[in-house]
Amino acid sequence: MNFKVAVLPGDGIGPEISVQGVDVMTAVCEKFGHTVSYEYALCGADAIDKVGDPFPEETFQICKNADAVLFSAVGDPKFDNNPTAKVRPEQGLLAMRKKLGLFANIRPVQTFKCLLHKSPLRADLVDGADFLCIRELTGGMYFGEKYQDNDKAYDTNMYTRPEIERILKVGFEYAMKRNKHLTVVDKANVLASSRLWRQIAQEMAPAYPEVTTDYMYVDNAAMRMIQEPKFFDVMVTENTFGDILTDEGSCISGSMGLLPSASTGESTPVFEPIHGSWPQAKGLNIANPLAQILSVAMLFEYFDCKEEGALIRKAVDASLDACVRTPEIQVADGAKYGTKEVGAWVVDYIKRA
Ligand code: IPM
Ligand code: MN
Repeated sequence: MNFKVAVLPGDGIGPEISVQGVDVMTAVCEKFGHTVSYEYALCGADAIDKVGDPFPEETFQICKNADAVLFSAVGDPKFDNNPTAKVRPEQGLLAMRKKLGLFANIRPVQTFKCLLHKSPLRADLVDGADFLCIRELTGGMYFGEKYQDNDKAYDTNMYTRPEIERILKVGFEYAMKRNKHLTVVDKANVLASSRLWRQIAQEMAPAYPEVTTDYMYVDNAAMRMIQEPKFFDVMVTENTFGDILTDEGSCISGSMGLLPSASTGESTPVFEPIHGSWPQAKGLNIANPLAQILSVAMLFEYFDCKEEGALIRKAVDASLDACVRTPEIQVADGAKYGTKEVGAWVVDYIKRA
């Protein structure tokens, strides 16, 4: 294949982990005879500082014309602590999702055998946990009508039938490819929007007779995820619930620095780690590059390059087993490896495989 990749390093630790993702992408392409070209673009606080817009038109065009976007992270404390800021780095992320029509956010929750002890949950509960959260990404409260004055404020949680149908379809299809168990997460006992989700899911379920479909209220799902994470195979939910549940899911595996994600929809798909920009670690060479590297694995898998994805996963597993790890997951007497060293080790493994 010939891959045209838009690279959006963004803010904080973004640029450091981005380099590692790109190096892995290049190494895998060399190994498997693919060609790859990269086009770099501004986003987030970096783009606000340079051109006054967190998702400039030029960035949008570069993304639109690429086969895939490799995204790192956006966010900067100087905006977090300024509630009157007119533009925020996060708006860049939301604009990218909306403009590229990325309605399906796929967030896998996985565990790594050698890191089970890092999970705040008991090892026997998390050992073998492996599920996908499919989060609707371009609708609901994030994008619904908003109002704010000094005495009143609201956000509207609106969903239309086509929006619900297309994301549920993604859920059913992933369930078919996996263990054929779909959990539709909603708040249908209270919210009208959730009742429509549930109604449509019930209409669609008979078309997937092999899939066991169950329905769970979001409060119950939040509890079940920590009580019995192995219950889940594929869960599908609306934007806001998915935002909250995927942060919860990320801690199951012991480090946020390990989990990738894919956002897909109408235009170019985006692959990004689920962790944020971790500004405190910027430039310190301590951020874990594995979530970004695993995002590259998801990129290959999206294009049906299964062997390429599998090799990256194998290299990542091998690095963890060899204790080539960044500080937050390193063993007590383990050697010191930084972002660059872990990335270089993975690249080297790929070249030699
Ligand atoms: C995420 C993030 C974003 C979201 C923020 C940065 C806007 O938390 O990708 O989960 O809320 O969707
Ligand atoms: Mn979030």
